[in-house]
Amino acid sequence: MPNRTLLIAGNWKMNNDVAEAAKLADELAQALPEVPAGVEVLVCPPTIDITTVHDRIQAAPIALGAQNVYWEAKGAFTGESSCDMLKSAGCTYCIIGHSERRDYFHESDEDQNKKAKALVAGGIVPVFCCGEPLEVREAGTYVEHVVAQVKAGLEGLELASADQLVVAYEPIWAIGTGMTATADDAQEVCHAVREALVELFGAEMADGIRVLYGGSAKPGNIAELVAKPDVDGALVGGASLKAADFSEMVVKAAE
Ligand code: PGA
Repeated sequence: MPNRTLLIAGNWKMNNDVAEAAKLADELAQALPEVPAGVEVLVCPPTIDITTVHDRIQAAPIALGAQNVYWEAKGAFTGESSCDMLKSAGCTYCIIGHSERRDYFHESDEDQNKKAKALVAGGIVPVFCCGEPLEVREAGTYVEHVVAQVKAGLEGLELASADQLVVAYEPIWAIGTGMTATADDAQEVCHAVREALVELFGAEMADGIRVLYGGSAKPGNIAELVAKPDVDGALVGGASLKAADFSEMVVKAAE
């Protein structure tokens, strides 16, 4: 078994104004003065909060990520942030391809491909999300669906090392619904994702790339999820908004 460091990543989504973000970041820094061996911790606040959160968690072993990026370097792209801008604000990770971006903002696989390439070239690790809606799960074609997203989104990406990419499998029916996939469901698809990564990047590289599960991950289920061989952590929405829950997940993941 390869020795992949688990990643517990918080996706705050569109929650917390600057004052609230400062408070949560302080609570996290206090709750996680150190993290257990074998676990890495990441928080991804809204863009407006990134600088504040950076200042508050600087001394803590918590990495900082964004929730979105635009692939161009600069210019007339109102409302967007470039990879270099995120980096200058302290980000080392960036979520891309979240189902909410794909659904509400009509982002395509092609968009994710451009974002992934811009991030890797610019030295930020993409947390590339994929996952099927309920009707695809019910039709039984979820593995094909997710594998197609991974291949289209990451095709042609050039990696020098496995730590330049993270993939997060998030079944849409499990996001924010309290309906967690079982650990076996998560393992089945995370394993298929890894096989797709083997095709894209070769076996050795794929072996080192972290594949997370996301969708109602919480303190009560994190241990059984990360016990699965292809589940290397979690992308956490709701439970990342409470410092006590999120830090408990970090501790439980390590046990
Ligand atoms: P959830 O969200 O943990 O609230 O289900 C996960 C995500 O969308 O990343």
